[in-house]
Amino acid sequence: TGDVTLDVGFVNTASCQSEITYIDGGEGILRYRGYPIDELAKQSTFLETSYLLIYGHLPSATELEEFDGRLRRHTLLVEDMKNFFDGFPRDAHPMSVLSSGVSAMGTFYQDSLDPHDPEAVEISTIRLMAKLPTIAAYAFRKSQGQSILYPNNDYNLVENFLWMTFGQPTEKYELDPLVARALDQLFILHADHEQNCSTSTVRLVGSSEANLFNSISAGIHALSGPLHGGANSAVLAMLEQIKADGGDVGEFVRKVKDKEDGVKLMGFGHRVYKNYDPRAAIVKETAHEMLEKAGDNPLLQLAAELEQKALEDDYFVERKLYPNVDFYTGLIYESMGFPTDMFTVLFAIGRLPGWIAQYREMINDPATKIGRPRQVYVGEGERSYVPVDQRG
Ligand code: CMC
Repeated sequence: TGDVTLDVGFVNTASCQSEITYIDGGEGILRYRGYPIDELAKQSTFLETSYLLIYGHLPSATELEEFDGRLRRHTLLVEDMKNFFDGFPRDAHPMSVLSSGVSAMGTFYQDSLDPHDPEAVEISTIRLMAKLPTIAAYAFRKSQGQSILYPNNDYNLVENFLWMTFGQPTEKYELDPLVARALDQLFILHADHEQNCSTSTVRLVGSSEANLFNSISAGIHALSGPLHGGANSAVLAMLEQIKADGGDVGEFVRKVKDKEDGVKLMGFGHRVYKNYDPRAAIVKETAHEMLEKAGDNPLLQLAAELEQKALEDDYFVERKLYPNVDFYTGLIYESMGFPTDMFTVLFAIGRLPGWIAQYREMINDPATKIGRPRQVYVGEGERSYVPVDQRG
C-alpha cells in the first residue's frame, strides 16, 4: 500500500486529540470532561451538561442562570423559516427537515458564519442550542397536519420542546415532570460520544472551515442512518416484527446468527464498547421505571427476553456484543407519545452540545488540518482512450 495504511472504517485511526469525552470500551466507562456518565445522568441536567461539554467546566450558579436565560431568549425561529415547513411534503422524514432547517439557519444568520470569529461561533452556538428543539417540534407538528406552537419561554429547554410538540393551542398544557426528567436524562446520555460517525462528520466538514450550521447539518445527515442514530427506530420496528411473527425470540436470534437476509440484532453491538454500554444500563432502568408504571408492556417484556437470550448465546458472547444505548430508548420514546420517525430527531437534540463542543475544539486547535483521508487504489492501470465508434 505504499506510504499509506488501509484502515477501512477508521477502526484504528485517531483523527484528533480531544479533551471532551473519555471512553474505555473494554471496561464500559464513559466520562464527559472527566465526570462519570452515571453521576451526570442522575444528578445533572441537560442544560448543565451541555454547558460542561461546550465550555469545559461545570457552571457556577450564575453562569448556569445566564446560559439558561440566553437560550430562552433565542428559542423563536425567524418567521420566514416557517415557509420551509409549509413547503416540505407532510410525510417527509423529520431528520431531513431537521438538517434542512439547520442549513437554512446559515442563510438567515449571515452575521455569524466566520468560524474564526469567537463571537460569531458563540452566538451560533446559542442559536443552535435554542432553536434545534423548535425546528424539531415544528417538523413533528407539520407531519401531523397540526398548526405549530410558538415557544413559551417560561419553560426550560426540554419542557419547551415537550410543550411545542404535544401542547394544544386551545388547552392548558399539563407538563408531566417525570416525562420531562426522563427526556432530560436521555439527552444527557446522548450528549457526546467522542469520534462517532456524526461527530467525525461535523469535524471533517468543519475542518474545511465550513461554518457551524453547515457542519452540524452534515452531522444530522450522518446520524440518520440505521447503523448510527437510526438504530433507535430500527429497534422498535424489530420488536414489533418479532411480536407480529409470534414473539419467538429464540427464532429471531437464530436468524441473526445465521445472518439470514443480513438481519442484525438492532440496538446491540458497538465499535468501541466490548462490554455493557454504561448508558444502556441507565436507560434500561428508566425504561422499567417508566413503562412498568403504565402496566404490562409486551414490547418491554419482549426486549428483556431478547436481551437475555442474546447475552447467553455464544455468537454474541464471542463477538462481545452487548446492548447499546438505543436498545431501550425507543420503548421510552414511544411511551412518551413520539412516533417512531421522531426517535432519531431526539438523538440529534441530545447530541447537539457534543457536536458543537467538538467543532469548537477543532476550530481552536492549532494542530487542526483539513481532513483528507488517503486511499488504496485498486482500479485499472493506465489505458488508452478509445473513441465511442471504435468500442466493441
Ligand atoms: N447483530 C448481529 N451481529 C452483529 C451485530 C448485531 N447488532 N453487531 C455486530 N455484529 C457482528 C458482525 O456481523 C461481525 O460478525 P462477523 O465477525 O461474523 O463478521 C462482528 O459482530 C463484528 O461487527 P462489525 O460489524 O465488524 O462491528 P462494527 O464496529 O463495524 O459495527 C455497529 C458496530 C454498531 C455498526 C454494529 O454493531 C451494528 O450494526 N449494530 C446494530 C446497529 C446499532 O444498534 N447501532 C447503534 C450503535 S449505538 C448508538 C450510536 O452510536 O449511534
